[in-house]
Amino acid sequence: MLAADRLEELEGFLLELNHVSADVILPLFRADHGLEDKGGPGAFDPVTAADKGAEAAIRLHISARYPEHGVIGEEYGEDRPDAEFVWVLDPIDGTRAFVAGLPVWTTLIGLRHQGKPVLGSIGQPYLGEIYAGHAGGARLISRGTSRPLAVRQGVGLNQGIIATTDPHGCFDGSEMGAWRQVRAASRLARTGCDAYAYAMVASGTIDLVVEAGLKAWDIDAAIPVIEGAGGHVTDWRGDPVGSEGGQVAIAGDRVLLEEALVALRRAAK
Ligand code: IPD
Ligand code: CA
Ligand code: CA
Repeated sequence: MLAADRLEELEGFLLELNHVSADVILPLFRADHGLEDKGGPGAFDPVTAADKGAEAAIRLHISARYPEHGVIGEEYGEDRPDAEFVWVLDPIDGTRAFVAGLPVWTTLIGLRHQGKPVLGSIGQPYLGEIYAGHAGGARLISRGTSRPLAVRQGVGLNQGIIATTDPHGCFDGSEMGAWRQVRAASRLARTGCDAYAYAMVASGTIDLVVEAGLKAWDIDAAIPVIEGAGGHVTDWRGDPVGSEGGQVAIAGDRVLLEEALVALRRAAK
């Protein structure tokens, strides 16, 4: 367990990292961002100068302040992944949204202590929002104000708003079947929101997000935000998400999550 003053220091640094990455990304949003394709044949996987520049800037800031800390990042790999403290970075989650000019991309910055996610943020600097959390609570920091975040409770799946990013791109046959079943049982479904949908679960406007094929950097940072807001992050069996990502369910209400897991468990890997 981290001492409160240590957590406060690290949370202050987390906010600094958000500003460091925003300074790189914002001038390139809806501008000439140097798009490249890092996908194999037939698979478009965009990366831009904003993704690479932001991760490089965050890494530089971490190594200047905490040279003993480890880093795992989407663009530049692992550095001391077994350190006591490890930062897990996705400089732009939602690069497809970014290149389409849609402001639902976010910067995900998480911190593991002894292998467990203890602190994290989902930042959307174009909207001026940082959703930050740890076990003691989660908050939205926006335009000089800070307010606590709380998930929506007491809503059944038939009243729930649910989301996934790209069912056709991310789900295999059995996963698609499970998604269709959960979607049919819900009130309203949205797609294409990337990790911004996780921030909406923490805010209480979305009740469930279902994703598959995630990597550690797609989800680690969101876990303390969701849990700090009173929500739940599990795999499709209902167990804690492992350190490698995979199939993930993010929910505000535990009972609603259990309703969805009835379908998700059938496609759990
Ligand atoms: C993607 C987003 C998306 C998820 C994909 C990821 P990227 O990350 O997290 O929500 O469905 O699996 O690849 O590539 O935009 O950082
Ligand atoms: Ca991502
Ligand atoms: Ca990314």
